[in-house]
Parts: sequence; structure tokens; C-alpha cells
Amino acid sequence: MTASLEIVSRSPEETQDIGRLLGASAAPGDVFLLTGPLGAGKTCLTQGIAWGLGVKEHARSPTFVLIARYSGRLTIHHVDLFRIEDAAQALDLGLEDCLNDEDVCIVEWADRATEAFPRQSLRIDMEHGQEGQTRRMKLSAGGGRHARLLSDLAARRKGA
Ligand SMILES: Nc1ncnc2c1ncn2[C@@H]1O[C@H](COP(=O)(O)OP(=O)(O)OP(=O)(O)O)[C@@H](O)[C@H]1O
Ligand SMILES: [Mg+2]
Repeated sequence: MTASLEIVSRSPEETQDIGRLLGASAAPGDVFLLTGPLGAGKTCLTQGIAWGLGVKEHARSPTFVLIARYSGRLTIHHVDLFRIEDAAQALDLGLEDCLNDEDVCIVEWADRATEAFPRQSLRIDMEHGQEGQTRRMKLSAGGGRHARLLSDLAARRKGA
């Protein structure tokens, strides 16, 4: 079991591949909480997670609608909280409907509404590395299921 995992990605494609592995292991009710500054790679990682869940389209930041939905093996709610000010506003957007036991929810700028999310989430903090294309991500498991998911991810990346 792995409570947290730090990964350095060296290209957008590598970030998408990390997402793909996460998406392939995702289960109903999973919540991915993504944080990090503009351009850290949150949408890029989301694209990979969606592809790993069997989505065919290319996920884009849902900047104007705030919530986008994709269908793959499960329904995915892709939420972007960049424009909100607090958790109450996130709930006004209908966030609670996205956090159900059947679907997967991926949230960019999740730190804008930390209180709105269950503790049993997988948190992914992303940041720019020192060189242009490097991005560092720290994945933290909010419970046993996610700790197993991180162990799987670490093992599969080693085997890659
Ligand atoms: N290793 C990498 N991983 C992810 N993206 C990378 C990487 N290297 C370069 N990039 C580039 O950085 C940008 C990341 O953009 P992306 O939209 O995913 O960021 P974001 O965190 O969602 O930003 P925003 O807060 O504006 O939504 C893309 O242009 C991508 O090509
Ligand atoms: Mg984005």
C-alpha cells in the first residue's frame, strides 16, 4: 500500500500516460482532486484519466461551462473550479450531483473548495519542474482503495 507517490513527468504525453493508468484502475465513486498553478498539467492528466476510462473524445478545460461530462466505461464529471471563490459556490454549480457512488469525478483547482469533497479522494498536487517540460506531481491517497491504486500505478510504471 502506498499512501503517497511522487512522480516527475517529462512530457505532456508522459502525463497523459500516467492519467491513462489511473483511469484504467478507476472505480465507481472515485474522486480525483487536482491542484496546481496555471499550465501545471491538470487538464493534460485529466485527458489521460478519461482515455483510461474508455472515453474517445479529447477532454478540454470546461472553463465556461465549469462542468463537462464524458461517457466511457463510467460517466466522468470534469469540473474546473478556477472561477469560483468558495465551497458554497461549488455546491451551487451542482457539484454534489457529480460526487455520487456510481460516477468518477475529476476536479481541477480542487483547493478552491476543499471542504466540499469527501476525505476518501485521490489528491494530485501538480507543479512546474525546473526545466520546461518537466512537471512534478504528488499523489496522496485518502483511503485504502486509493493506496492500492497508487501501489498499482508505481508497479506498472516500473514495468513500463
Ligand atoms: N510534462 C508535462 N505534463 C503536462 N503538460 C505539459 C508537460 N510539459 C509541457 N506541458 C504543457 O503544459 C501545458 C499544460 O496545460 P494544461 O491545460 O494541462 O494545464 P492546467 O493545469 O490544466 O492549466 P489551467 O489551470 O489553465 O487549467 C500544455 O500546454 C502542455 O502541452
Ligand atoms: Mg486546466
